[in-house]
Amino acid sequence: MADRYASFAHSGIGKAVVKRLGLPNPPRLRRYRPGQPLVEAPVLVDGAPHGRLADPVRELLTAAGVPLGDEAPLGGLVFDATGIVDSTGLRALYDFFHPRARALRPSGRVVVLGTPPESCENPREATAQRALEGLTRSIGKEFGRGATAQLGYVTPGAEAGIESTLRFLLSARSAYVSGQVIRIGPGEVTPPEDWERPLAGRVALVTGAARGIGAAIAQVLARDGARVIALDVPAAGESLAEVANDIKGETLQLDLTAGDAPARLAEYLRTRHGGVDVVVHNAGITRDKTIGRMDPDRWDRVLDVNLSSQERINDELVDRGLIRTGGRIVGVASIAGIAGNRGQTNYATSKAGVIGLVRSMAPLLADRNITVNAVAPGFIETRMTAKMPLALREAGRRMNSLAQGGRPVDVAETIAWFASPGSGGVTGNVVRVCGQSLLGA
Ligand SMILES: NC(=O)c1ccc[n+]([C@@H]2O[C@H](COP(=O)([O-])OP(=O)(O)OC[C@H]3O[C@@H](n4cnc5c(N)ncnc54)[C@H](O)[C@@H]3O)[C@@H](O)[C@H]2O)c1
Repeated sequence: MADRYASFAHSGIGKAVVKRLGLPNPPRLRRYRPGQPLVEAPVLVDGAPHGRLADPVRELLTAAGVPLGDEAPLGGLVFDATGIVDSTGLRALYDFFHPRARALRPSGRVVVLGTPPESCENPREATAQRALEGLTRSIGKEFGRGATAQLGYVTPGAEAGIESTLRFLLSARSAYVSGQVIRIGPGEVTPPEDWERPLAGRVALVTGAARGIGAAIAQVLARDGARVIALDVPAAGESLAEVANDIKGETLQLDLTAGDAPARLAEYLRTRHGGVDVVVHNAGITRDKTIGRMDPDRWDRVLDVNLSSQERINDELVDRGLIRTGGRIVGVASIAGIAGNRGQTNYATSKAGVIGLVRSMAPLLADRNITVNAVAPGFIETRMTAKMPLALREAGRRMNSLAQGGRPVDVAETIAWFASPGSGGVTGNVVRVCGQSLLGA
């Protein structure tokens, strides 16, 4: 659905009105197009003394053809904070960011890298590293003009696994992701031969792919080289076929809640492809009512589609060894699962459950090199949000650092980063695709 306010704010007269009245000013976000350079302006990489990441970051960015420098306008600011071992050392952040608060070009990127507090040697270091969250999230709210800011915690020893995440965060693919804390651990990483097609040779299943976010996920994974199996209910067969034809993928008409769905899906993957590399659990429904007015069917349907069916399918595919080593499971949660939402006890419960699933399964599947992560979308422009009452829809669009709704492609790009063979160190993460929404922040 068109964001008429954003169109107005971008017009000649609109710009003046927005400025004079101090209204929200949604910037135009730079989004990824194939062939686009990773970053279009120099990136400044610096860090506190004795950090372990500034040098590897400079090396990998140079190898990726990204110009490094300190001349505004900059495409990105990367600060290695791993050398900060106590609270007095945090001054290095001020010294770096204060003179550069206006140095970024529109849609510029800020990435702060640290050590996970739980991996620090002592409480002082853990305290200082935890403090990085406050800085990063505040910069996401301050810099404006489409800038985003993230914190990447890199476990000691996992330095070699940061490229895929750094590429995602610095590029236009992460247009609607801001204020996030991402953990990169020691998983096995296979750098793709071609970063433009990291999923070449991989088979990806996308549920709920007939429309909305699922269709965008199917398109982006196919663009990145995957053979995509687009799954949806039989009633959505026609639009499912359109999505699949467009990307030269396959369709699988299946109601995920049917008793035999896990077995039928497993058989399909086994006989056609000998297994699967990427499983994206995107299918989801809402049946909103406050809990006092909710009939049991609304509760049961939402929990079954959004959570229990995912568990049954994961179990079947994992137990039968059909998710290949290096595999990726990605769930689609929601900020409602983090913040809660009036009228959505069933939905928020199911989505919080998806977060629980990710966190509890990730360590269990680590020894098979299978990662499990989730995205938590905020307000995304889809049919689901187009149905919201006007006031609620406008609030959803504006109450975030980017003052606009996201697009299905923004969720899809984040999933493609999780799915990349280069993201083996990224597991157990829940990344919000919400423009740094105030809800649940
Ligand atoms: N749109 C948003 O702003 C937003 C925000 C947060 C989370 N999400 C989540 O993102 C996902 C996609 O959302 P959307 O807005 O594209 O929704 P949508 O309703 O447009 O698409 C969902 C798809 O899932 C399919 N589906 C539903 N039940 C199924 C079943 N039993 N078996 C197989 N397929 C089934 C539907 O047929 C549909 O094609 C959902 O999980 C949703 O909860 C969306």
